[in-house]
Amino acid sequence: MLKNKKIVYFCQECGYESSKWMGQCPGCRAWNTFVEEAVTKKPAGSGKITDKNLAEPVVLSKISMTSDERKSSGIGELDRVLGGGIVTGSLVLVGGDPGIGKSTLLLQVCRNLALQGTSVLYISGEESLRQIKLRADRIGEFNDQLQLLCETNLENIREIMERKKPQVAIVDSIQTMFHDQISSAPGSVSQVRESTNVLMQIAKGMGVSIFIVGHVTKEGNVAGPRVLEHMVDTVLYFEGDRHASYRILRAVKNRFGSTNEIGVFEMQENGLQEVKNPSEYLLDGRPENTSGSIVACSMEGTRPILVEIQALVCQSNFGIPRRTSVGTDFNRVNLLMAVLEKKVGVHLSSSDAYVNIAGGMKMTEPAIDLGICLAIISSYKDIAIPDRVMAFGEVGLSGEVRAVSMAPQRVSEAKKLGFDTVILPMACRDSCEKIQGIRMVYVSWIREAIDAILEK
Ligand code: TYD
Ligand code: MG
Repeated sequence: MLKNKKIVYFCQECGYESSKWMGQCPGCRAWNTFVEEAVTKKPAGSGKITDKNLAEPVVLSKISMTSDERKSSGIGELDRVLGGGIVTGSLVLVGGDPGIGKSTLLLQVCRNLALQGTSVLYISGEESLRQIKLRADRIGEFNDQLQLLCETNLENIREIMERKKPQVAIVDSIQTMFHDQISSAPGSVSQVRESTNVLMQIAKGMGVSIFIVGHVTKEGNVAGPRVLEHMVDTVLYFEGDRHASYRILRAVKNRFGSTNEIGVFEMQENGLQEVKNPSEYLLDGRPENTSGSIVACSMEGTRPILVEIQALVCQSNFGIPRRTSVGTDFNRVNLLMAVLEKKVGVHLSSSDAYVNIAGGMKMTEPAIDLGICLAIISSYKDIAIPDRVMAFGEVGLSGEVRAVSMAPQRVSEAKKLGFDTVILPMACRDSCEKIQGIRMVYVSWIREAIDAILEK
């Protein structure tokens, strides 16, 4: 064996490095994720500082900013998630399950940028040029500002980038890229880490905005993008239900903007289309006049999203009642049911309960508590809540309804979608009183909310 080669073990989930194999990773507690990799040690003295690579410190006022720091991607929902457009010289990681639409979204971005006159290079290590063309044909017309390349060797990529000088580049996917100097297979932690490093140097050095696609798989042999998250500027996750056609793009890290924003898309025959008004989309086809259903509001970044909360409460046939929650936190639902039992006096301990956020959205904001409680009571009593009622508010352990942030935005969204009544915390009264044209029911206790709409 060569002297400067060393065997180390990497956790494929989080990138934890160890000199021996372990069953459980001390970093992320995952089991059986360590994989052996040979790493080459750099010859002694290679990292030595010379005059050439020694950077000079500068003062803030001397740093020049150009006005075209951000470019629009031509897709409003993506711009919103990125914090207002693509930042020049940024490195963005787009992660998601296979088949969710990462390549489609980025190809659409390429098309829009090319139409604006930006030079774009799409580097694919996964698909052949013909396959990309097939996808492009579904999306629409392209112009010659977009160039395609099938390549996996990073040194070649660096060279081509230096020659072509694109303004934006896409690397699909990081798991297929490899660096000559690293002996482990593409997709392993050291390859992924080194490849990202090279791409980062290209992005920062040449001022190219680079999008990297990363796969997330549960198998141990592919390095999860978790390892990369620390290295890149922005991490976007593309998620969605395989059975539903809509997709959600979420920022989990963003050096240039907020991480709360989401973008909503729908996968159609001709690529991903933006969903400008997600509430309308999610409430479409809602059953009318049935018990156990109410509309609640959750903020996703600066945008209020209305969703239908459904509950089904029925007599339990076993000693231990069955509880299930889909789309929201299971423990939170149990907690709210305990509050209802103790403070409202309904006997839920002998009932099975199922709570579902319709449409496959995942929501964990406490503002939907009031909606969950009202849906459960509505189903328990078998009384339908009027269709045009929306409720929001956090429910505390004493049965009190607590204030939530951005109440006026939530009320306005409900008004825009034609709701006539909003049930909201008393503490939000001051901020919402000015809004006209919609009936507001302020409540301090969960009991008052129930009395307001569920008592016959
Ligand atoms: P893709 O972008 O290849 O996914 P990823 O790169 O994340 O693995 O998306 C693939 C899915 O999208 C595939 O199942 C086909 C579907 N699709 C459409 O429904 N409409 C379209 O216009 C395109 C291009 C793809
Ligand atoms: Mg793909």
